[in-house]
Amino acid sequence: MKVNSVEELLNHPSNQIDVELKGWVRTFRANRFIALNDGSTINNIQCVVDFESTDEMLLKRITTGAAVHIKGLLVESQGRGQTVEVQVKSIEILGDSDPEAFPIQPKKHSFEFLRENAHLRTRTNTFSAVMRLRSSLAFAIHDYFNRNGYYYMHTPIITGSDAEGAGEMFRVTTLDPKNPPLTNEGEVDYTQDFFGKESNLTVSGQLEAETYALSLGKVYTFGPTFRAENSNTSRHLAEFWMIEPEVAFMDLAGNMDLAEDFLRYIIQYVLDNNADDLAFLENRLIQEDKSKPQAERSSMTLSDKLRFIIDNQFVRVTYTEAIDILRNSKPNKKKKFKYPINDWGADLQSEHERYLVEKHFESPVILFDYPADIKAFYMRLNEDGKTVRAMDILFPGIGEIVGGSQREERLEVLKEKMAALDIPEDELWWYLDLRRYGTAIHSGFGLGFERLVMFVTGMNNIRDVIPFPRTPQNAEF
Ligand code: 4AD
Ligand code: MG
Repeated sequence: MKVNSVEELLNHPSNQIDVELKGWVRTFRANRFIALNDGSTINNIQCVVDFESTDEMLLKRITTGAAVHIKGLLVESQGRGQTVEVQVKSIEILGDSDPEAFPIQPKKHSFEFLRENAHLRTRTNTFSAVMRLRSSLAFAIHDYFNRNGYYYMHTPIITGSDAEGAGEMFRVTTLDPKNPPLTNEGEVDYTQDFFGKESNLTVSGQLEAETYALSLGKVYTFGPTFRAENSNTSRHLAEFWMIEPEVAFMDLAGNMDLAEDFLRYIIQYVLDNNADDLAFLENRLIQEDKSKPQAERSSMTLSDKLRFIIDNQFVRVTYTEAIDILRNSKPNKKKKFKYPINDWGADLQSEHERYLVEKHFESPVILFDYPADIKAFYMRLNEDGKTVRAMDILFPGIGEIVGGSQREERLEVLKEKMAALDIPEDELWWYLDLRRYGTAIHSGFGLGFERLVMFVTGMNNIRDVIPFPRTPQNAEF
């Protein structure tokens, strides 16, 4: 007989049929009621054991965390809280779980504790809901691009160029750290290393994606990226996943339209397909809010926040306008910002981004036309000679969720920019070739996948939306 999933039995119940289930015991009450979960849904199915006809030793082994195989009859439930339940005919313990030692007790655990037990935390409702949503979002992303004629491109994870400048990199080497070969100048001789040159883990697939955009037209990457920034914040990981579309013949305005349409699609997708998990997380946040002082409570529920993205145009403002708003803002005048805004050219910190989104506009914001000096070398220089066609999308509670730009397609301008920043041409000869042979305007952006998962689930630490987070001093599991 085929094993049924809990999801299937709860959502398409048909009474008085024989069923077979495999899953983990969440709780076992009164020697009678098993709450069984198999990961297919946030909801447990109640399985009722006839303790009189069940061996006492077997009953003792039905403990929180144990894996079991149940055969029984699906019937209408007599109890409250569920429409159907399983009358157990036979139960086999597949894997015992010592109830004293099992870390995931049927009670509230702190997220810190659960991070230390990340291998077991998806046995909880919160983390199973988050990870099912993560999976669903990943699928929705591929679905969006597939429906819209994009090719999925796999960009390399090991890279020999470190010119992107997006962040500190992790070195990849097979040299003996105690006794590396040295050059005459006493430097490590990377010509003797595995790749014959210094190599690192990539910070972004963009430069390689550009090569494919200028041949296949519309492409995207979705892969892991690595940044060795020592920033221990709730929004940074050393290993995170990024989605990077890159499109030929598309300008910055087209890039903004694409990002908005894309974000709306994937959020609508989870609203349509993950209602149970979202309802659970929304309720979790409502409960959490109740323990906060009135002033800190959020005025929007999780589904309000998601619908808000779908129903509203993002506000588009230039960096220059944003600086004016910030300069004249209350917190700036009252010296409440840690980094006061005085002059045009200042890099925006997350306190500024959040002020714009959460206080001033009360809407997602696309900031564009940033000063060239605070953005990457490859961004298209504007006619004013001092700003570039960059865009950042800022979300409430998150800050920057997307960073992108129109790319510099003019060979001479790009070369000048690289020279000014001491980026050697021979390192990016292939990137320059794109501007030599059939250059065209093109644009793209990067969406931080974990920041998206944070937004959609309402989790407020990025370590809680990736299975095994990599952060400074932490690569457990
Ligand atoms: O703004 P970033 O650095 O942009 C790029 O890497 C471009 N090459 C993208 C492109 O145009 N194709 O990073 C893009 C996004 C950020 O907006 C943020 O959401 C996320 O990646 N991000 C991080 N997420 C988690 N941890 C980190 N350390 C992150 N750094 C960036
Ligand atoms: Mg950025």
